[in-house]
Amino acid sequence: MSGERFTFTVDGVRVEAEPGQTVIEACDAAGIYIPRLCHHPELPPVGHCRVCTCIIDGRPTSACVMPAAKGMVVENDTPALTAERRTLIEMLFAEGNHFCQFCEASGDCELQALGYLFGMVAPAFPHLWPKRPVDASHPDIYIDHNRCILCSRCVRASRTLDGKAVFGFEGRGIDMHLAVAGGHLDESAIAAADKAVEMCPVGCIVVKRTGYRTPYGRRRYDAAPIGSDITAKRLGAKD
Ligand code: SF4
Ligand code: SF4
Ligand code: FES
Repeated sequence: MSGERFTFTVDGVRVEAEPGQTVIEACDAAGIYIPRLCHHPELPPVGHCRVCTCIIDGRPTSACVMPAAKGMVVENDTPALTAERRTLIEMLFAEGNHFCQFCEASGDCELQALGYLFGMVAPAFPHLWPKRPVDASHPDIYIDHNRCILCSRCVRASRTLDGKAVFGFEGRGIDMHLAVAGGHLDESAIAAADKAVEMCPVGCIVVKRTGYRTPYGRRRYDAAPIGSDITAKRLGAKD
């Protein structure tokens, strides 16, 4: 990337960035974790989930789509933002059907890990208990729509990385849902090795016959809270 590097601050810490980086990209590189759900570094950002919302120069702004700029003042880790992010996560739990104790993704799930990170302890909203299907038609993959948080990572990954366009959205508002090209997985071009499968942040798209290979208690977020891989860069640099 060309152009002069510049700095801005996040919670009073000076962050160096290069032209073209978003706020979240510059913070990732600097070892500052901004919570996120729809963002993935290999995918084009869309700003869907709002979990990454920071106060940037006094205004609530999605850090995953906001270009970093010289002298910007960013608030990220504050009690008010944590409370707002917790509310977003609580709403996602209430909108779907999440039974973590029976879910293959438990311990590896980004939604669950954010619930822990933000101190979610009890339901804050009435659960909607929507009626959603499971599509197990494919020999190698199933989709449990009960756990889908409509983050669009699979939609973007299938298009931009797999070159397939297997997924899209249908419906509006509370009726919006993930749709599979052809109607069912077995009529689509999906394969177990697709990036669209790998990038689902929850237990919605699952590869068959791989469940519980890593037992509960020994999974990614059992070992360390979500974001630790990013903050480790900064803590490591201080040593
Ligand atoms: S997808 Fe995540 S939050 Fe939902 S049931 Fe599974 S582990 Fe829990
Ligand atoms: S299936 Fe997974 S990746 Fe796709 S929109 Fe739902 S939660 Fe996101
Ligand atoms: S991570 Fe930025 S809006 Fe979802």
